[in-house]
Amino acid sequence: MVSVPQLARAASHGHMAWRRGARHVTLPWLNLRKARPPFSRAIGAAVQAARPGAMTDLVKTWDSATAEAHVKYNISDHSCIWDEIARHCMPFAEGKDVADLGAGDGTLGKLLPQAGKMTNVDPFPPEDCAAKILKSDGVEFLRSQPDQSLDLVVATFAVHFMDRASLDKELGRVLKPTGRAIWFSFSQSSVLFGSEEFNSIYYSVGFSQDGSGTAGSSAPTTVLKIDRPATSANLRNHVAHRCHSNLKQMPEHMISKLLALIPEDLQALDIRLDVFMFAPNPSRDGVVQC
Ligand SMILES: C[S@@+](CC[C@H](N)C(=O)[O-])C[C@H]1O[C@@H](n2cnc3c(N)ncnc32)[C@H](O)[C@@H]1O
Repeated sequence: MVSVPQLARAASHGHMAWRRGARHVTLPWLNLRKARPPFSRAIGAAVQAARPGAMTDLVKTWDSATAEAHVKYNISDHSCIWDEIARHCMPFAEGKDVADLGAGDGTLGKLLPQAGKMTNVDPFPPEDCAAKILKSDGVEFLRSQPDQSLDLVVATFAVHFMDRASLDKELGRVLKPTGRAIWFSFSQSSVLFGSEEFNSIYYSVGFSQDGSGTAGSSAPTTVLKIDRPATSANLRNHVAHRCHSNLKQMPEHMISKLLALIPEDLQALDIRLDVFMFAPNPSRDGVVQC
């Protein structure tokens, strides 16, 4: 039997991992295969009870229902968003050694054909993935790389799944002197369709930590603004299938309220991405934000 303090400790230390297409929560000392969504929510309730305010840590959990929906309905997964991410990475990738940590199906790699060498890394790549994905935890991958060997390490919507202290330490070692690490995450400054009521609910949970900055560097290096074409059905599916981590934490009545506020004639969403850029620090034991 796993105690509530054990669960709380695991969540707060970031040991839960998620996996596309599998009913699976991974802990170092516990493997809950076939854990169904209600069970995941039970874990959430236990952790919340044990450590009030700890729900943000649960962005580290995942289950098959949300993973599949994420692939199909996530409003962040759109060509105009990918183009903007690729455009931002391009100057640091052209002819360079690049690694994408938490690469999923390797979409970004396909958009950066100018990279000299592109390594897609993900511990739980999708089974039907056409791109070559190295199956590894992001930090473990960096540990396997020589000193000062990478020009660009990037993570899109994935850095919060990795152990940040270890990640920063390894980056300080593996990045070349001119190398960069860049993290992209959905920003709570996204205006979406401009409804204050919708946004006050949407951002009311899960955004207490940005998940991308190191301690003391929580302001993004830059914010990308993207006008994403979207219909009412696109946003309704995104919300109803709880495609973002904050939605996964919301009770049903908040989801219903959000759905009721989506206009029928929606045509576009104002989406912003927080971008965090880091360079190796002079002592090479970590990184500094650029
Ligand atoms: C929200 S998805 C984003 C996937 C992809 N970057 C994208 O933007 O479509 C998060 C990804 O992080 C991966 N992930 C989970 N734990 C990880 C870890 N410890 N190290 C690296 N990647 C991890 C998951 O397998 C998943 O593919």
